[in-house]
Amino acid sequence: MTSHIGKPTSRVEGHAKVTGAAKYAAEFNAPGLLHGSVVCATIAKGKIVGFDTSEARRVSGVIDVLTHENRPPMAGSDRAYRDDVAPAGSPFRPLYDRIIRFSQQPIALVVAEEPEIARFAASLVRVDYDEDAHVTDLMRGSKIVALRDQAVSRGNVEQAYAESEARHEAEYVIPMEHHNPMELFASTAIWQHGKLSVHDKTQGVQNVQRYLCNVFDLKPDDVRVVSPFTGGAFGSGLRPQYNAALAVLAALALKRSVRVVLTRQQMYALCYRPATIERLALGANASGTLRAVTHEAIAMTSQFENYARNDTGWSGLLYKSPNAKYSHKLAKLDLCSPSDMRAPGAATGVHALECAMDELAVALKVDPLELRYRTYSDRDQNDNLPFTSKQLRECYRQGAEAFGWDKRNPQPRSMRDGRELIGWGMASGVWEALQTKTAARIVLTANGHAEVSCATSDIGTGTYTIMTQVAADALGLPLDSVSVRLGDSTLPQSPVEGGSWMATSVAHAIVATADEIRKELARLAKKAPASPLRNAKLEDIALADSRVVSKRDARHAVSIADAMRHAAVDRIEKGKSVNFKDDGSHARNAHSAIFAEVKVDEELGVIRVIRVVNAVAAGRILNPKTAASQIVGGVVWGIGMALHEETLIDHAFGRIMNANIAEYHVPVNADVHDIKVIFVDEPDDIINRLGTKGVGEIGIVGTPAAIANAIYHATGKRVRDLPITLDKLL
Ligand code: MOS
Repeated sequence: MTSHIGKPTSRVEGHAKVTGAAKYAAEFNAPGLLHGSVVCATIAKGKIVGFDTSEARRVSGVIDVLTHENRPPMAGSDRAYRDDVAPAGSPFRPLYDRIIRFSQQPIALVVAEEPEIARFAASLVRVDYDEDAHVTDLMRGSKIVALRDQAVSRGNVEQAYAESEARHEAEYVIPMEHHNPMELFASTAIWQHGKLSVHDKTQGVQNVQRYLCNVFDLKPDDVRVVSPFTGGAFGSGLRPQYNAALAVLAALALKRSVRVVLTRQQMYALCYRPATIERLALGANASGTLRAVTHEAIAMTSQFENYARNDTGWSGLLYKSPNAKYSHKLAKLDLCSPSDMRAPGAATGVHALECAMDELAVALKVDPLELRYRTYSDRDQNDNLPFTSKQLRECYRQGAEAFGWDKRNPQPRSMRDGRELIGWGMASGVWEALQTKTAARIVLTANGHAEVSCATSDIGTGTYTIMTQVAADALGLPLDSVSVRLGDSTLPQSPVEGGSWMATSVAHAIVATADEIRKELARLAKKAPASPLRNAKLEDIALADSRVVSKRDARHAVSIADAMRHAAVDRIEKGKSVNFKDDGSHARNAHSAIFAEVKVDEELGVIRVIRVVNAVAAGRILNPKTAASQIVGGVVWGIGMALHEETLIDHAFGRIMNANIAEYHVPVNADVHDIKVIFVDEPDDIINRLGTKGVGEIGIVGTPAAIANAIYHATGKRVRDLPITLDKLL
């Protein structure tokens, strides 16, 4: 029975957010709260010889200056610093020793009574360094390591490529990019009689809690991590950030409550999408069937961790090709480790693949959409598996129809509107449909109210809302009889919210828990005086319209309130964890087709993205309103990736130059025009009980390629390095 799932539903926390009632990590207060300001290294590599903190300490209101020399104990082993989603390697340890590993590395924390005092005093800390030569340029002088587990091939690519009638080979470059969530990295560590409550900006409260316990040798009962609201994160909040460690460090040292908020500049040093060089080679028959796909990626990482995501595997997956070969290499640089950023790997790798497919279509003189049909694959060829569902064909069909693709003149520079050239481009998108072990608790009270809880976060994706919808349906209650608690490490177990797995995972945890409530209510209802359900079997009893009701005859029902009242039960509490079995028999993916129109000023090179249609196949959509918002957000970011975003490093200093929202360009409202989202019907009774896949990341995948391909169609000029700025067109 679904009266809420599948309905466009406004965010249940929307009112709290727009009225300011929703509190974020740096808005929690405590008596005597102190403020920490971080001092960052000004060199990219070397050692700290010494500090002079005397001037900083003389500032009235300064309480302490913590460095690796005077801090309380922290764990010594690498292991203690490894969080749930840490890549291979040795994680960064803040304020741990004298070694400088990247520019803007935190090296001291000035703690004061007021944030302004702390910040001013931080500017007075003098540091002597012993500087070493650094390398921060992906293109020059970095050490390259190949990842053996990402070197995959099938068939004989070299021979197939040599025998192909049409070939395309090119290199595509995606620059370093940054997340730029509105909420700054912040932690307020509240000290209460030796215990800590840490209000942290994070995508995973339990991940941060485990990290803090390991690093500071604390018991889980002594540290509670709370994050009821997250002001955007996009992957930047997956790993514990050093502000959490420093706030706790200072709180332990001073036995006081301490808040540490990073500046926007400081955030830039910490996590980013790695710049990636993508080398594609496609070979095809004249008829437009693929014979060979080769994809090699070289992405930046730090010296201390091998951060790597799947950039190239999509090329073996998405289109039918008997021969495929792909590999991933890392360039070790003197920077902090990269991090996941919306559709990590796919946003970059699929961009390159989709641009290459467009170039192959031009070489073959085949419509780019037609080429996708000719190379369509009903199986995952990497693992030779069928998909649980794949309605990508329907995405192509509905997307093309909504866009009007059949009116496209294939000739570049053939369509115009006055002084502007018009271009139409398309691309495919693909992402994983992941699901991960998650638990939920439901407390139903005799007044007919249910509280549903899980430690997951809601990073703005709509988790509060879909949890409410799923629980209301599963319990047969109206939406406003359900409240949700999340973002608290004391709540039932949740993984970090990421990878587009959270909606599916928590929804199934709620359904399983609600079923325990149903059974309990059914038992009570059967025992009610003159119960019409007394002869009903447990499996024939459902919850609907605030009643315990027979599935065979809806007239046989007892209200939930009566069932509880007659049994003198005023509270039913159930908790359950779900795990998702993967028998290895199917591939699980979400897909999309993106169509974009651009207008390019012929003389000035100014590019405008006039409209985008993004047709998505992601199983059953729990909430078309919040889901569409996710896709729109992904498309806006795709516009940014295609036209605006680029983090620039001054390699002489090994430091990011445009570490602020003035000089790191993102799309603004004037850059965003018509965006249409289509969810195609994709029934899937194999993937899970509800038939759901995630939608948090798929919206960005392929969008920059559709725009890049449209720019080629408008201008006849192929720009293979992002962002496509007007200087590159001129
Ligand atoms: Mo997402 S990049 O897994 O938050």
